[in-house]
Amino acid sequence: MLEALPQRVERFLDLGTGDGRLLALVRARHPKAEAIGLDSSAPMLDRAKERFDGDSLVGLRRHDLRDRLTNAGMADVVVSGLAIHHLDDERKRELFGEVHALLAPGGVFANLDLVRAASERLHERFRREIGRTEDDPTDRLAGLAEQMSWLKEVGFAEVDCHFKWLELALIVAVKAPAATA
Ligand SMILES: C[S@@+](CC[C@H](N)C(=O)[O-])C[C@H]1O[C@@H](n2cnc3c(N)ncnc32)[C@H](O)[C@@H]1O
Repeated sequence: MLEALPQRVERFLDLGTGDGRLLALVRARHPKAEAIGLDSSAPMLDRAKERFDGDSLVGLRRHDLRDRLTNAGMADVVVSGLAIHHLDDERKRELFGEVHALLAPGGVFANLDLVRAASERLHERFRREIGRTEDDPTDRLAGLAEQMSWLKEVGFAEVDCHFKWLELALIVAVKAPAATA
């Protein structure tokens, strides 16, 4: 994911930041970037607060991604790790539009997430490989192709899957750069 981000990142959002693991990885690469981590879970945010204690460039906010992304401000990057698959498909589409709207021209949305398997056989294989015997009832997996088409529909200029292993996919969507006169 880090390789997919622009060389210069001044402000980024992490959707479903959890304990801030992904946010910390992005900041290690872009230490001067201001970061906002959003999560609906107070215990997870507490762990993230411990991780970033005293770091004035990191803001952590309680936010349920089922609600509109308001007051998040502009960003040149939005990342997310293993969070958006918990939203229903309609909300995923809306969220993609909200991410597009808040990104600066040329901004990048990088989402490492679970996508629906191409068959029940592959789903069972994925579960086996990750050591799970049952599905997570909170999962709302959507197919890779449909998520990529939603990202195009909301206006992203370049949408690609940079990595995929069974149900784990890194989808990267780039907003068009500002038009030059
Ligand atoms: C598997 S953890 C991943 C955490 C982190 N992104 C990472 O990569 O390590 C998923 C996170 O998504 C958050 N999450 C799930 N549904 C959410 C929602 N509707 N709104 C905000 N956060 C949500 C959970 O609270 C959890 O912290």
